[in-house]
Amino acid sequence: MIRARIEGTGSYVPQRVLTNQELEGIVDTSDDWITTRTGIRERRIADKDTTSGIATKAAKMALKDASVSPNEIDLIIVATVTPDMFFPSTACFVQSNLGIKKGVPAFDISAACSGFLYALDIADRYVRSGASKKVLVIGVDLFSRIIDWKDRNTCVLFGDGAGAVVLSAKKGKRGILSTHIHSDGDYWKILYAPSGISQKQSAKGSIEHPYLKMQGNETFKAAVRTMGKACMEALRYNGASAEDIALLIPHQANQRIIKAIQERLGLPEDKIYTNLERYGNTSAGSIPLALDEAVRNGRLRRNDLILFVAFGGGLTWASALVRW
Ligand code: UT7
Repeated sequence: MIRARIEGTGSYVPQRVLTNQELEGIVDTSDDWITTRTGIRERRIADKDTTSGIATKAAKMALKDASVSPNEIDLIIVATVTPDMFFPSTACFVQSNLGIKKGVPAFDISAACSGFLYALDIADRYVRSGASKKVLVIGVDLFSRIIDWKDRNTCVLFGDGAGAVVLSAKKGKRGILSTHIHSDGDYWKILYAPSGISQKQSAKGSIEHPYLKMQGNETFKAAVRTMGKACMEALRYNGASAEDIALLIPHQANQRIIKAIQERLGLPEDKIYTNLERYGNTSAGSIPLALDEAVRNGRLRRNDLILFVAFGGGLTWASALVRW
């Protein structure tokens, strides 16, 4: 049986670190409030970086890690809601930046923080159908460009970052075992950004600033409910139980949300990977960035069962179960 196997991972975060202490000078907040309520201590902020620029850096690293050359890639999917431009897609910029073969399909998908798992779902279907052999999947967002830096309810939560994987069509038991993606548009108003592009507008720019808007409490409850459900769906579908999971890599939104999922599944703390204390919520970048770190920290072993789960604006939610 042909499966999509993750052959390489990569990630990139901008150099600039924004600490909770610095935020105390920007909005009426405190390091104590932010760490207690979210678990976040600092995040990265893009200065001159663009979405396609950091996506390209993460992708380069993933290609190197997979020992795959750009001209072997036959599909590029980028998950982002903060693209450089409305069009062309960020994926087309990445294709050009990396010199990936002309004619290869490249497109973006929009599912906010669930974006990477949506992209993985699509890529998996291309691979299993035989349409693609080597796919570059990137999750990337620059939320610093759509944050209202006067709104303490949201500006403390997010950061910028990118992660990438290279998938290869391989025979055998290792690879993506399942993906499940869902949405409920009736809940769009709890988390949204009205319009926008990631490149900064001039003072006279005609595009409305697309500040992110969020109902924190409603979003928190929806996150716990949908991610809990998504984990159970993935386990049931594969006839697995929580004890079979070697590592859960959840969307890095809030330590308390992650804790609630951990308790629902009855997983010990050391089976959950978190890095949100250093990066905050990087939206579509969150899961592949955490995955790349987990790989580099030696947290994944061959044949381990790895569960990914995400939740985001839309509402969207998703899971993927992978045999590493
Ligand atoms: O990818 C998904 C993206 N979004 C999320 O995951 C967000 C999910 N929601 C959350 O993570 C939490 O709801 C928050 C961290 C946003 C808020 O935590 P909370 O425990 O739900 O706090 P709250 O909204 O109930 O606010 C409690 C208090 C309020 O003051 P009052 O009304 O009790 O006087 C807020 O005004 O905390 C206040 N507050 C703050 N205080 C200091 C809100 N933000 C801040 C802040 N610093 N940054």
